Amino acid sequence: MSEQVQSVLITGASRRIGLFNARKLIESGFQVLATYRTYTHGVRELEDAGAQMIQCDLSIKENTFRLINEVRQHTSSLRAIIHNASGWLADSQHELDTEPMEALFHVHMEAPWLINRGLRDLLSNSQETADIIHMTDYNALRGSEHHAAYAATKAGLESLTRSFARLYAPGVKVNAIAPYLIIMNEDDREMAAEDTLRIPPMGLEPGESVIWQTLEYVLNNPYITGTTIPVDGGMSLS
Ligand SMILES: NC(=O)c1ccc[n+]([C@@H]2O[C@H](COP(=O)([O-])OP(=O)(O)OC[C@H]3O[C@@H](n4cnc5c(N)ncnc54)[C@H](OP(=O)(O)O)[C@@H]3O)[C@@H](O)[C@H]2O)c1
Repeated sequence: MSEQVQSVLITGASRRIGLFNARKLIESGFQVLATYRTYTHGVRELEDAGAQMIQCDLSIKENTFRLINEVRQHTSSLRAIIHNASGWLADSQHELDTEPMEALFHVHMEAPWLINRGLRDLLSNSQETADIIHMTDYNALRGSEHHAAYAATKAGLESLTRSFARLYAPGVKVNAIAPYLIIMNEDDREMAAEDTLRIPPMGLEPGESVIWQTLEYVLNNPYITGTTIPVDGGMSLS
């Protein structure tokens, strides 16, 4: 009898780390369900490779409900959910502008909370122990002068990691991956030019593969839950 194909849901797969990891999941034999907000050549590539692509702006709660329903139409079980979608939004110059905080609360905290709850039964249907993986950030616990809403909502996601790990064990492992610089954004390059971006002890801009290595490690390790794995080039040393 042939083994059942296992499904994985990954959010924010239109580019960079999400796109890279969606590709790797497909290469590893998973049926990939992936969300995107903007249609890119990466989305087209994943569609052509057989991924089920779902358009969804996670800053709008109703869209997250729609996503949950749509995933349920495509699969009855999930081996993993990877919460990768994220907005690298700076705090507003206007003190009372709530826009970045509201949007980032929806994307980084409310959507993962809803999706983890709304698809719990699909995770329970996985033949193997299932995984939830939250992509957070080195800056979540350190704080950030210019991205305070980003850092705070990523810290909230780290807290959700531990809550869901308690609640969903033993059937589902729940872990966070907290990267420092993996691939620079354009505004990072400006900060680097101004020398405000700290270079980690390992002295690298390592690229997406270090996140894939960490995802594989988490997916394949049956005895790790409720943790945050730093992928930060040794930033805790500085
Ligand atoms: N790159 C790094 O060095 C680094 C460092 C620390 C942590 N991380 C974390 O690692 C993960 C991936 O990083 P990345 O650099 O690849 O991120 P990215 O380039 O900013 O891409 C983020 C993804 O999330 C999607 N997204 C943004 N806002 C959304 C919304 N409102 N609704 C739905 N999707 C939305 C984006 O879609 P659109 O293309 O449509 O905007 C994109 O697909 C993120 O969680 C990030 O916080 C990355």
